[in-house]
Amino acid sequence: MIYQLALFGHPVKHSQSPQIHQEFARQFGLDIEYQLIDVTTDELHRRVHQFFDQGGHGANVTVPHKQAVMAVTDQLTERAQQASAVNTLYLKDNQLWGDNTDGDGLVNDFKQKEIQTNNRHLLIMGAGGAVQGILPALLATGPQQIFIQNRTPEKAQRLANQSPQCRILSSDIDNGAFDVIINGTSMGHHGISPPLKAEWINPQTRIYDLSYGQAARAFLHQAVQMGAEKVYDGIGMLHHQAALAFNQWFDHMPELNISTDKRSVQP
Ligand code: ATR
Repeated sequence: MIYQLALFGHPVKHSQSPQIHQEFARQFGLDIEYQLIDVTTDELHRRVHQFFDQGGHGANVTVPHKQAVMAVTDQLTERAQQASAVNTLYLKDNQLWGDNTDGDGLVNDFKQKEIQTNNRHLLIMGAGGAVQGILPALLATGPQQIFIQNRTPEKAQRLANQSPQCRILSSDIDNGAFDVIINGTSMGHHGISPPLKAEWINPQTRIYDLSYGQAARAFLHQAVQMGAEKVYDGIGMLHHQAALAFNQWFDHMPELNISTDKRSVQP
């Protein structure tokens, strides 16, 4: 039997998910076919149902459909409800379920990289769908405080209202250095970066971009220029969220064969 899997998004053609899931399937001797389905929001509902009606076993969802696809599902897992976004679809008891593995994927990558968040001061830059998706999982790790900074402060405030641990970053207060700074804006896809301040960073500050590869470069480069020594792009999160999705589809948790060391990405 060949299990049919797919990724719904736009664009999808440069996705690494097919290779990642083929490697996971190999670990368990499973045959999979992982299609990339480039789809507009208008077509999303029809294409998702068509895929599962034709025997699809499971699917991932990526930008820009992680919120819109919630309306296509019959049921949402608790973590998808909290994240207000879905990145994983599967059938259970004839119902289409939506799950979200992004937040736990990030937290698992932090564990692997020994990035501590419990009782720590975090700064998140950005307040869009990507940040909403990871915030509940980060809050569950017990940070002392999560500051949120965004071009549109009202959106940062809306996210910050979710928890007493969250607040928007005020430029009037000197916060000193943060333990962890996360870039969750989409600016890196245009080769730009939200501005960092030197006082936010010391050599121990962990700098993490939710994007990976070229899209993370501008932010990580800026951080290194300000003295950061521990900078990471989101490739680890990509692999960890994929492993958790694979586990939903096959009830087998794959091993990650990506580098497990603490080496920084060299921007
Ligand atoms: P995603 O699903 O990738 O999170 P999104 O919901 O559109 O996409 O959110 C994009 C984030 O990047 C937002 O925080 C956005 O800031 P606004 O809320 O002010 O729109 C931020 N962003 C994108 N382009 C930006 C830019 N040129 N300058 C500053 N912030 C930017």
